[in-house]
Amino acid sequence: MSLRLPQIRHDACDELAALCKAGGDPLRLNVLRVLANDSFGVLELAQIFAIRQSGMSHHLKVLAQAGLVATRREGNAIFYRRALPQGDSLGGKLHGALLAEVDELELPADVAARVAAVHAQRAAVSRDYFARSAEKFQAQQDLIAGLPQYRESVLALLDALSFAPGATALEVGPGDGGFLPELARRFSQVTALDNSAAMLELARQRCQDEGLGNVRLDLADALQDSAEPADCVVLNMVLHHFAAPADALRQLARLVRPGGSLLVTELCSHDQSWARDACGDLWLGFEQDDLAHWADAAGLAPGESLYIGLRNGFQIQVRHFAKPDSRSVLTHR
Ligand SMILES: C[S@@+](CC[C@H](N)C(=O)[O-])C[C@H]1O[C@@H](n2cnc3c(N)ncnc32)[C@H](O)[C@@H]1O
Repeated sequence: MSLRLPQIRHDACDELAALCKAGGDPLRLNVLRVLANDSFGVLELAQIFAIRQSGMSHHLKVLAQAGLVATRREGNAIFYRRALPQGDSLGGKLHGALLAEVDELELPADVAARVAAVHAQRAAVSRDYFARSAEKFQAQQDLIAGLPQYRESVLALLDALSFAPGATALEVGPGDGGFLPELARRFSQVTALDNSAAMLELARQRCQDEGLGNVRLDLADALQDSAEPADCVVLNMVLHHFAAPADALRQLARLVRPGGSLLVTELCSHDQSWARDACGDLWLGFEQDDLAHWADAAGLAPGESLYIGLRNGFQIQVRHFAKPDSRSVLTHR
């Protein structure tokens, strides 16, 4: 006589229990808090919470099994970010409510300080790269995508926006200044800010060679130093050099005047991790949805987008985001 084993049934309750269990730990709640608009590798999270990597891996596994975090492979590294609540599916409302409550929490000061330290480490990698690589900038850029490959697409979006006479532009991270002549032709005043003195010197030479009289070059960090808002803010292949891109987009959105535009040219998500060493990239491109989500959180509305496939397999996204004009919002109410 054969013994019938009870069939193991995956009960919906198990899923809810996993969600409750994952949320039932202060450290895991704080992990969700720091992932609010950032993604970190397991080593970074272990540093931020001052625990061993094996302990952090355990907590991340619990969060992943409950569907609270998702992973993204970046070359050899795995980055963790929040998973989005699926409102209609089981646990979706609980998940959404949990994140809403978590976002009300104040991060412990020591944790916040270590998040800032991780961001500073990432930013230093990017700064060192541009300080060392100015003279071979063009060759390194061309390994992935150079301005000639996206210039026309950015101009197509720019020219479709028809800015008013007297409008101003701000280019963040102009590199060797290759796009500045285009901006100088279209705007009455252009400011370019770069935190690399070596790169800014290349841009200065370009402005001088081309006799651009309406471009001001500032040695400044786009995220730490103040800058005058402009009608059009341009960010060509810069976001993947920022330590915390979602946060960066929120800060840069403040530099767009109401009714103005932010143009972002970026690589689409890729898995070529050699780009970190060869081109100083901190992020291997971005998912289109992530950019849209971060822009939305920054109070920007999506406009037109263009996508460019390159023969080397990389793909570029050229995105327009608009900042609502507060006056027109008021008059239309
Ligand atoms: C890959 S280059 C892009 C250059 C140019 N926009 C282009 O499309 O060829 C990135 C530039 O952003 C600058 N950059 C990186 N982080 C910055 C920051 N926090 N503030 C200002 N500039 C930054 C770098 O120094 C570099 O010139």
